Amino acid sequence: MALALYRKYRPAKFAEVVGQEHVTEPLSTALASGRINHAYLFSGPRGCGKTSSARILARSLNCEQGPTPDPCGVCASCVSLAPGGPGNIDVTELDAASHGGVDDTRELRDRAFFAPAESRYRVFIVDEAHMITTQGFNALLKIVEEPPEHLVFVFATTEPDKVLPTIRSRTHHYPFRLIPPGTLRKLLERICADEGALVAPPVYPLVLRAGGGSARDTLSVLDQLLAGAGPEGVTYERAVALLGVTDVALIDDVVDALAAADRAAVFEAVDRLVEAGHDPRRFASDLLQRLRDLVLLQSVPEAAERGLVEAADDELARMAEQAGKIGVATLTRYGEILHTGLTEMRGATAPRLLLELLCARMLLPAATPAEPGLLERLERLERRSDIAAAPGSQGEDGAAEGRRTFRRRSEAGPDGAAPAPAAGPPQDEARPAPAQAPAERPERAAEPAAPARPPAERPD
Ligand SMILES: Nc1ncnc2c1ncn2[C@@H]1O[C@H](COP(=O)(O)OP(=O)(O)OP(=O)(O)O)[C@@H](O)[C@H]1O
Ligand SMILES: [Mg+2]
Ligand SMILES: [Zn+2]
Repeated sequence: MALALYRKYRPAKFAEVVGQEHVTEPLSTALASGRINHAYLFSGPRGCGKTSSARILARSLNCEQGPTPDPCGVCASCVSLAPGGPGNIDVTELDAASHGGVDDTRELRDRAFFAPAESRYRVFIVDEAHMITTQGFNALLKIVEEPPEHLVFVFATTEPDKVLPTIRSRTHHYPFRLIPPGTLRKLLERICADEGALVAPPVYPLVLRAGGGSARDTLSVLDQLLAGAGPEGVTYERAVALLGVTDVALIDDVVDALAAADRAAVFEAVDRLVEAGHDPRRFASDLLQRLRDLVLLQSVPEAAERGLVEAADDELARMAEQAGKIGVATLTRYGEILHTGLTEMRGATAPRLLLELLCARMLLPAATPAEPGLLERLERLERRSDIAAAPGSQGEDGAAEGRRTFRRRSEAGPDGAAPAPAAGPPQDEARPAPAQAPAERPERAAEPAAPARPPAERPD
């Protein structure tokens, strides 16, 4: 059976651990200058390199030429501690998920007093350290407090808060992070080149998104796509089908239709999506992701160059166009509707129906007394006046449709007459507020909207 990519490409030294420079650089410096601590805590999300780094630390400490950030790779210790190597008796891994009880940690503690058999340090890697029981931690406390000279503990965990504070405070804590898409993409491209695998460029953003910033998850997704690829390599269509993501074309259609307030087009797109066997919930979440990208593109013009928004070039061009058609206030309102809707859709028996209702809600003019509603109206007004100022400079259809929408809305009046949407408004939809302190609103409009999730790191 083929070795899984994430195991085949396990990093063997700190220089090969990507996206964690804030951890690997200071660790390398400490190793180079021989400043070794007796206990380390590696925390962070799944599949980001904690266990790999713990093993690398052990290898770096015990290399014949070491301690060194650049283990030689040929000495007996380096060979045994290489990824896939047999390991050696001085480096012990304890998987606390299955061996976190007091008996296991006592045994570990008793062994810790013996000097290493053949290496510089005895290294204990305690993986999933948050799974150690309180009693288990207590058994370790003494030795972590007063470790013998030859002993190094490395605790790895996704939940550092669950590590006994008295232990935690004696460690050097290195927080690992999710890996930025730009960085992971380079890793994927390098691995594909190594494997001689053909992957269509638009596939990468899908893989990155599915992997959610975890290197292991991302490599697993790639693995699966490569396994199912024919001689033509991994195509976009194949990846879309296999990953169950929504074809961007459908997302584009819905966003364009929302921008033009084209109700028919929105509901037709939903119909096509369901006909094609897509999961409405998945679609809602992909649409939410798109809204997030649009918000970022509007707030940070160079979002793509900075790696904040990941997409193929032609998709980026389409998104830039869409970002020019919908204001940030509208986008965030859509985002809120979808976000709430996604929770409601969990386990819903009629997800399609819910999706259609969500669309109807997005299509409603923001008739709430809340600030976003006013902002949104302002945005629309501004766009109208842009159009009026430059006749013919905008897409004909969009402008005409927009004017129609606007007229309908002004007929409804700003002071409370309910608008007449195609779909019935939910009963709890509040009515428009009497205009309130309009003078201070435009300033607020200039505030950047909060992105749907924290912006990713700038890759380098
Ligand atoms: N920063 C990284 N750079 C390169 N590859 C990585 C990185 N992080 C993870 N990987 C890949 O993912 C695999 C799993 O990583 P690792 O076991 O170190 O993750 P972890 O942080 O310990 O995850 P978990 O919390 O699930 O135990 C590695 O074998 C490697 O292929
Ligand atoms: Mg691990
Ligand atoms: Zn070596």
